[in-house]
Amino acid sequence: MMPMVELLPSILSADFARLADEVAAAERGGGTVIHVDVMDGHFVPNITLGPPVVKSLRKATTLPLDCHLMIENPDEYIPAFAEAGANWVSVHYEACRHLHRSLELIAHHGMKPGVVLNPATRVNLLTDILPMVHHVLVMSVNPGFGGQQFIPFSLDKIRRLVELRKELGLGFRIEVDGGVAHDTIAAIVQAGADLLVAGNAVFGGGHPERDVRALLMTAREAAGEPVQ
Ligand code: DX5
Ligand code: ZN
Repeated sequence: MMPMVELLPSILSADFARLADEVAAAERGGGTVIHVDVMDGHFVPNITLGPPVVKSLRKATTLPLDCHLMIENPDEYIPAFAEAGANWVSVHYEACRHLHRSLELIAHHGMKPGVVLNPATRVNLLTDILPMVHHVLVMSVNPGFGGQQFIPFSLDKIRRLVELRKELGLGFRIEVDGGVAHDTIAAIVQAGADLLVAGNAVFGGGHPERDVRALLMTAREAAGEPVQ
């Protein structure tokens, strides 16, 4: 059985002064996991937020918090994210000298480990550690900013992950992040992704509830799931 598709609103494009309201609106629209982009100004050319904001978000919603760490030396910060209330934590293949150790550390702190691939990083590099992960996050833009264009060859990477999951008899989820929007979401779902992160398409137009609902409807149709 394929997992049901889920929409993960990315707060990167939300109004940070009204974060609780923005998250609540996205949740009313059907968002089921909140995607939190952590950037350090080193691994990516932008700076966002850290454990204190995660701690506040934890009080604002009961939804799982999916923390996407775009930072150098993630191991140093994993305990602080656990303490702050993160549920899922993903680290970049490109940022981890000892990826196996980083994934173990995340699991050891009671969180669901994920691994992230930049657009230029090959899926096959992950084969040996796939049994350890709850999700693989395919970056479909170069990380650092919201509102960028979806990179089309990301669809091949999603299809390759679906194949690998089958070959290896595993159950990890396939998450896609970057340029997920009304005109790309159907192809992304048809390629086999089930966790759909969207920032600009959710918060950019000022109607997060309506836009989450519309994105989900298109995604469910593409997946052949019931559209309520
Ligand atoms: C980019 C972030 C994304 C970002 C996606 O580095 O990882 O989560 O919010 O933004 P959109 O959906 O606007 O492309
Ligand atoms: Zn992200």
